[in-house]
Amino acid sequence: MKRSKFIAHIVLAGSMAFSAPLLAQQKMPVKIHGRADSESSLEAQAESLLRQMTLKEKVNMIHATSSFTSGGVPRLGIPEWTMSDGPHGVRLEHGRDWNPDANVADSGTALPVGVCLAATWNPQLGYAFGSVLGSEAAARGKDVILGPGINIIRTPLNGRNFEYASEDPFLVSRMVVGYVKGVQDQGISACVKHYALNNQEYQRTTIDVHLSERALREIYLPGFRAAIMEGKANTIMGSYNKVRGQWATENRYLVNDILKKEWGFKGVHMSDWGAVHHTQQALWNGTDVEMGTDLAMLPNPDYGKFFMADTVISLVQSGRMPEYIIDDKVRRILYVMLKTNVIDGKRKKGVYNSKAHQETARRVAEEGIVLLKNNNVLPLQKSAVRRIAVIGANADRKQAMGGGSSQVKAFYEITPLQGLRNLVGNAAAITYVPGYTVARGANADAASIQQAVDAAKAADVVIYVGGSFHGYQHTVWADNAYDAEDVDKPDMNLPFNQDALIAAVAQANPRTVVVLLGGGALDMTRWVDNTPAIVQAWYPGMEGGTALARILFGEVNPSGKLPMTFPKTLEEAPAHKLGEYPGKDGIVNYNDDIYVGYRYFDTWKVAPQFAFGHGLSYTSFRYSNIKAAVKGKSATVTFTISNTGKVAGAEVAQLYVHQQKAALPRPERELKGFQKVWLQPGESKTVTIKLGEDAFQYYNDVLSKWVLEGGAYDVLVGGSSRSLPLSTRINL
Ligand code: BGC
Repeated sequence: MKRSKFIAHIVLAGSMAFSAPLLAQQKMPVKIHGRADSESSLEAQAESLLRQMTLKEKVNMIHATSSFTSGGVPRLGIPEWTMSDGPHGVRLEHGRDWNPDANVADSGTALPVGVCLAATWNPQLGYAFGSVLGSEAAARGKDVILGPGINIIRTPLNGRNFEYASEDPFLVSRMVVGYVKGVQDQGISACVKHYALNNQEYQRTTIDVHLSERALREIYLPGFRAAIMEGKANTIMGSYNKVRGQWATENRYLVNDILKKEWGFKGVHMSDWGAVHHTQQALWNGTDVEMGTDLAMLPNPDYGKFFMADTVISLVQSGRMPEYIIDDKVRRILYVMLKTNVIDGKRKKGVYNSKAHQETARRVAEEGIVLLKNNNVLPLQKSAVRRIAVIGANADRKQAMGGGSSQVKAFYEITPLQGLRNLVGNAAAITYVPGYTVARGANADAASIQQAVDAAKAADVVIYVGGSFHGYQHTVWADNAYDAEDVDKPDMNLPFNQDALIAAVAQANPRTVVVLLGGGALDMTRWVDNTPAIVQAWYPGMEGGTALARILFGEVNPSGKLPMTFPKTLEEAPAHKLGEYPGKDGIVNYNDDIYVGYRYFDTWKVAPQFAFGHGLSYTSFRYSNIKAAVKGKSATVTFTISNTGKVAGAEVAQLYVHQQKAALPRPERELKGFQKVWLQPGESKTVTIKLGEDAFQYYNDVLSKWVLEGGAYDVLVGGSSRSLPLSTRINL
């Protein structure tokens, strides 16, 4: 991160003030201390505090005062505002600098990563996940959790996909609302990030994203809109990149026009850490708090030299910046602080490292792990296997501290190997062979492959646990990382020559189950047809090993579904085939437009390796009896799902809409509803999904608005974007 000079750039043209003040001036001041009862009372309290502040005190509130706090006003009883990463757990303790504190009890619940949560397709688990974060944040004295991360998964290479959710805006929206409410119901603010278009980590602090208004509206914004308008997220973080030539964090269109005006956002728009570049642009264009600029000043940060610090005071004093611009920011901060009892301290206590939190981590892993392929190998029978070969370095590797700012110092972490040992006990002998080493430039060599092959031959079943890995910050993070912040993956291949290892092991023992860890798709073409079972386990958190073992042995019936398409090869991914990646000369054009993920594969009829929404179960489901009733511009769809197999299980029924004839091209089908349904063997349930107007609309960028065209629409229902046994046609 480079920071040139701390000289204010005087930018007068092209900027517009955020005019409507958040809080009406005429409100009566009320008592500051004591619980806030209503919005207007909060607004009045904020106004009252604001009026008592000097300019210097106000400015102190709009920039960081340490790596994870922004300023308070002690004279008025306003404490600093304390933030913590991140999306998957309360991050290890930092004091007032970037160095982790020594000798503090700061290990906590490490939840599975964002894509694993999305793969549950269970918004209630989103809520439970958020509640754990909120509760642990409260227990640790944090005011804001810097999550969820919800940027659209555009390319399999993005190093941060693991932290995000999906390629599909509808799925992102449904999951994010639960997460945000879960956090905020614990009295803590969620911070949805990164707004917007942070879809690659390569050149993340400089890349300039260009895209059509339609792609922006249909694909990249709906998750944020849902987080703000439905989830009522108190805070949002601007991203590092530029959008159409202007820094996202200081982007007038994204922040003032869309976020604050169109969506009516009343909360705080903070910068990503070090994402502010100009004082005036940031002030005028809606940045409320500047964070992380100290990263560029280490080892001696001077918080007064932030863009939104001392310079602001002189600008206002010399008449070059109206004070109401600063007031608007401070009001927003105070409003959120009051709403979350930062000032009166009357917040729910919060709980740390509880059994219940660990159980939530396990449930998310159990519902998020996806069974991709199964030719009669799984589930394993405890009574039938005597010798198990566990092969692959990920089996014995802890992951929670990897990946960058989402790292969590886990209270404990059950690795896949440990989980298997715990479950199997003395019932079977487990031989473990790493097969490869996680180290820069390391490759599974002939000797390690031979060792794995020998173990495989001697076993009844092989459980291979490999795939990607989390680079560790400050070690392999920057120069050799997969699934880590600030870097993209070099390609979609399995690292460390695992292709050869898997092929050799599968040949040595046909009962080989391949378990892949990672943030998304890897190229499996070299061995996919020769392995009978494949499981996608993401980074499943502190209880991941338990969850995985229970799934492999059938104690839990898998119910996860892919939240993104797995292409066969990187070349077939739409960002690479139609669009640009990683861009040229610092600019990336999203020519893939609205054809992200399955919208591309299904429209262009390209066969993926595994389709969006795909995921198998140990039972089977039958879909029947679809009906749709249209009323005005909305429809109610009902259908039946039956469990036709022998064990209880859950199916995520997905509903896609296809417009017969549209004025502009549309994707073949778009996800507009889903429901996860639990069924006993032989049981049937009727599912009802309501489709509002927005299920049929698209953004017409010739007319610059959402349109609903009359005519015929097909409603398709089934278990993945490529398996849709039911369909019915409706007319609007
Ligand atoms: C990341 C954010 C994170 C922040 C603070 C940044 O580098 O992009 O997601 O919240 O650091 O750690």
